[in-house]
Amino acid sequence: MAESILVSGHTKKERYESLIPQINALIEGENDVIANLSNIVSALKFSMNYFWVGIYFVKDVSMNNAVIANKINVEEKEKCTLVLGPFQGPVACTRIAYGKGVCGKCWEQKKTIIVDDVDQFPDHIACSSLSKSEIVLPAFNKNGEVILVLDVDSEELANFDETDKIYLEEIMKIIGNCVGKSIAN
Ligand code: SME
Repeated sequence: MAESILVSGHTKKERYESLIPQINALIEGENDVIANLSNIVSALKFSMNYFWVGIYFVKDVSMNNAVIANKINVEEKEKCTLVLGPFQGPVACTRIAYGKGVCGKCWEQKKTIIVDDVDQFPDHIACSSLSKSEIVLPAFNKNGEVILVLDVDSEELANFDETDKIYLEEIMKIIGNCVGKSIAN
């Protein structure tokens, strides 16, 4: 694996394009999901200078908190919750219910949500008053169900746009593959 991440470029686009191949190199040859996701969130936080970057897994609380990656259906949603996974940044809330906060809404709507001003987002869950804007993206299993969300927070208002969405969705495919491979193993 790569020993360090060095991201070049002045624009977001350049920085993401420099980062993504390094993320692939970082996880190459390692199939442990927690190790890989931990390194990915660290690479993202420090190379893009975000305030907080972390994963929330969809977990079935009735099944020993296993990560749901293979089967989950609508009727089972109430047995599931988001649980904090690998992250970089200040301590954060550990559980978020389906449909609650930006993360729970991302899970419910199965799509990326960008929030320019967290104070204007009804039901936003504030883990830190320093976080001003955020983007939350889902990763899917083979059945198209959400298995986790990635939450990226900034101390600046309106720090996320379509460029972040495009490149972070690329990173979500890498993350989805990491989890998929670990389940198959
Ligand atoms: N703001 C998120 C909660 C997670 S923390 O920001 C790390 C939300 O509203 O779902």
